Amino acid sequence: MQTNIEFREWADEHLPEVLKAQVLSFLRIIWPDGFTGSNRFRDWTSHPDLRPHHLLYAAGSQLVSHLEVVTTTVSVGGENYVVQSPTAVMTFPAFRGEGWAGRLVAAAVARIDAGQADVGVLTCGPHLVDLYSRAGWEIAPGATILAGEDGSTWVSDDVLLTRSVGPRSAAFKASLREHPMRVADEW
Ligand SMILES: CC(C)(COP(=O)(O)OP(=O)(O)OC[C@H]1O[C@@H](n2cnc3c(N)ncnc32)[C@H](O)[C@@H]1OP(=O)(O)O)[C@@H](O)C(=O)NCCC(=O)NCCS
Repeated sequence: MQTNIEFREWADEHLPEVLKAQVLSFLRIIWPDGFTGSNRFRDWTSHPDLRPHHLLYAAGSQLVSHLEVVTTTVSVGGENYVVQSPTAVMTFPAFRGEGWAGRLVAAAVARIDAGQADVGVLTCGPHLVDLYSRAGWEIAPGATILAGEDGSTWVSDDVLLTRSVGPRSAAFKASLREHPMRVADEW
């Protein structure tokens, strides 16, 4: 039994099946809404179109904590922006409160800052804002999100957080104070 916990990262297509299965199982239990209807047998963690990049801690084949950075395009006030977002953030209960997710959020920030996105965005429950703000994410007060083809407002208590990355970040954040953020689908 391996007990030393190591940082690993993989592009989606290279994520070992044993680790992917643990991420998927966690998602299916914690966020069941993403696994209904035609997604009942979903075998992807984030849609491959979002080019997920997995950052994780594992002890051998045992997953401890995981996060994936996805890349997509959103529109605000009629302008398109390339955004990167940490999602599927999870730590198995036995390892919580030891800073694993915080370290993965910091690693995600380093990756996003070094990438080509216009801006970083994520949503989280109000109780988790501290986890992300410690790593440099900022609350976008009052921001609304329109998701899906029908553009129905994402009714949720989640908070939208942003991180300035490229030169268009300031325009994105200013526009977000006036207009909703439109996303093709929730991620
Ligand atoms: C949220 C989660 C990933 C945190 O993982 P973790 O490895 O324990 O996180 P860390 O040890 O790095 O940081 C813990 C911090 O997260 C925050 N936090 C985590 N869970 C919390 C909760 N239920 N209520 C309040 N704060 C919480 C606190 O700010 C805490 O800070 P502290 O160490 O100063 O107390 C983990 O609890 C989890 O998997 N939860 C279920 C899935 C989930 O909600 N994912 C986040 C989606 S945005």
